[in-house]
Amino acid sequence: MNILGIETSCDETGVALYSTEHGLVAHALHSQVDLHAVYGGVVPEIASRDHIRMLLPLIQQVLNEAGIERPDAIAYTAGPGLVGALMVGGGMANGLGLAWDCRVIPVHHMEGHLLAPMLEDEPPEFPFLALLVSGGHTMLVAVRALGDYRVLGTTLDDAVGEAFDKTAKLLDLGYPGGPALAALAEDGNDGAFAFPRPMLNKPGFDFSFSGLKTAVMLEVRKAQAAGTLCRADVAASFQRAAVDTLVARSIKAAEAERLQRIVVAGGVGANKLLREEISARFDGSVYYPRMEFCTDNGAMIAIAGALRLAEARDADEIKAQARWSLASLDVPQATQ
Ligand code: KG4
Ligand code: ZN
Repeated sequence: MNILGIETSCDETGVALYSTEHGLVAHALHSQVDLHAVYGGVVPEIASRDHIRMLLPLIQQVLNEAGIERPDAIAYTAGPGLVGALMVGGGMANGLGLAWDCRVIPVHHMEGHLLAPMLEDEPPEFPFLALLVSGGHTMLVAVRALGDYRVLGTTLDDAVGEAFDKTAKLLDLGYPGGPALAALAEDGNDGAFAFPRPMLNKPGFDFSFSGLKTAVMLEVRKAQAAGTLCRADVAASFQRAAVDTLVARSIKAAEAERLQRIVVAGGVGANKLLREEISARFDGSVYYPRMEFCTDNGAMIAIAGALRLAEARDADEIKAQARWSLASLDVPQATQ
């Protein structure tokens, strides 16, 4: 079976073809970063319009590369995300589903992220702990099986990717700031500022990043006023505090749940320090998607669709949910 994956939840148009026999066959990605950079963040209407412009050419490109005329099923991101952007992918998936007479599978974006490491040569086996870290989410999830997701902790305020982006903005690093901040941090002293490690002394597995963000803002203002601001030191100290928090919380959760495997996924999963630290400090196995599949992409939606083929339905309803709890998903009936 060939499954076409379509991702349009935010500012990347991602398309991929996954074969249940041969694995990932082709994928293509168009980033809208340049379009939104001038505004300092994602403009939803511009995102929707650009998905409309790019989606069909990318689908054609992926089918050409795969050497097929049509897939056997189409998986699309149905949420959570920007509702207009989701409607573009959902509309296209259902339209093509009708035209090609193939079934469509609505996919939860965060399930896509957490299944992305399954595209690698050595995929994780169930059960595992998933640390999902993106621009919109920060979550620790106990994953016992496909669809069996217990959310252990989540952020009480900003997502960690958002904290990276806002700190980067404060340092004039542009949008999206996460990768730029991580690059600048390489030249800085991560002990220059003693930023808080939020929530580490509190029970449970929730996160909070707004206090860290405020602490950074206050130090930056102080240093600016004194004319002593070293942006690389701020970036390195912020990154260290954020990563320490994520790693300590994840390891504690894995131990509490007696899980030997941790999966790190989502855009912030591309952070080098996070990958190094969690691998060094966790006494079990750590799995990641390859760098390009940490951020949004069509391949993770295609593989999630392949694993949820049992839920494929006729192309007659566009599902687009801006908010959608991961814990509300079910174990597919075929695997129960
Ligand atoms: O998963 P993703 O592509 O989109 C969402 O679903 O949100 O994640 C994007 C987030 C942005 O906040 C971006 O700044 C962050 O991931 N990010 C990083 C790195 N690469 C991307 N944050 C820290 N270090 C990185 N290397
Ligand atoms: Zn994402």
